[in-house]
Amino acid sequence: MLAVEASLRAQGERQIKEGDVVIVYERHDRMKAVIVARNGELQNRFGVFPHNEWIGKPFGCRVVGKKGGGFVFLLAPTPELWTLVLPHRTQILYVADISFVISFLELRPGSVMLECGTGSGSLTHSLARAVAPSGHVHTFDFHEQRALAAKQEFERNGVGHLVTVTMRDIQGQGFPEEFVGGQADAVFLDLPQPWLAIPSAASSLRCDGGICSFSPCIEQVQRTCEALTIPEFTDIRTFEVLVRTYEVRQEFLQTTLQCGTQFASDCLFKPPPQKRQRPQKGRKRETRPVIAKPYPDTKGHTGYLTFARRST
Ligand SMILES: C[S@@+](CC[C@H](N)C(=O)[O-])C[C@H]1O[C@@H](n2cnc3c(N)ncnc32)[C@H](O)[C@@H]1O
Repeated sequence: MLAVEASLRAQGERQIKEGDVVIVYERHDRMKAVIVARNGELQNRFGVFPHNEWIGKPFGCRVVGKKGGGFVFLLAPTPELWTLVLPHRTQILYVADISFVISFLELRPGSVMLECGTGSGSLTHSLARAVAPSGHVHTFDFHEQRALAAKQEFERNGVGHLVTVTMRDIQGQGFPEEFVGGQADAVFLDLPQPWLAIPSAASSLRCDGGICSFSPCIEQVQRTCEALTIPEFTDIRTFEVLVRTYEVRQEFLQTTLQCGTQFASDCLFKPPPQKRQRPQKGRKRETRPVIAKPYPDTKGHTGYLTFARRST
């Protein structure tokens, strides 16, 4: 169950139970979603982890492996973590674009949102949390298997009551009749030809509601902007969101003084240990400085976000 539910019910500590989805966290770029099963077992390079030992422990706890002596953390799934571990059925939106979309579309509890296409449901989980508890996300995809898989995940992750998945060709048919007359507070499009859906989005959006279209190519953005240049829309803007991630870790470093006559490049030595072990009793802990540097494979261009506001 996602933290959406947790935050709605109780902000306090939550205990892991059978059937829960937990995020097994090794480090920021190595984690996976696991469904807790009685007598289930997880094996990884840190050891063997029987699920029975997880049940009753609080989310966020550290558990030590049976063989190997390493450890992992058991985190509660949030939309942000789910985006990092979900099964990819399509290209997905990541947290930088997602947070910008939620902020710029002014989503809040109670908002009614139209989304197309659902894809792998990465964005949908965050939309659901933003509009909870009284709002709703209506998400559309014309691909049957993707729509069904996403629906199952929304149910299992505890946001099913906030999301309705419908199979529909939005570029061809537009949004359903029930939304005509400004029933939606916001519309989000992640489609190959979003400009085809804009007339229908215009008739579904309330006055002053926001639309956003995500496209990887600038040619798509040009056509979308042309389609938005009609009296029904104003305040058209396009953004590209880029995030620079930093790697923070402890490192063995020697100063030139300690190195004597060695070249500075030789002074960075000894890579960090591969296996995390609990410190052995009686052994002195080594102190190492913490260094921070830009992560070498930081994500670059994902897509352009084009926003506009419904006017009369
Ligand atoms: C890139 S994926 C969306 C990913 C999603 N934003 C996420 O974060 O997981 C695009 C989706 O649009 C769907 N799609 C493409 N054309 C469509 C159409 N005409 N009507 C409805 N869905 C469509 C595809 O099946 C695909 O699942």
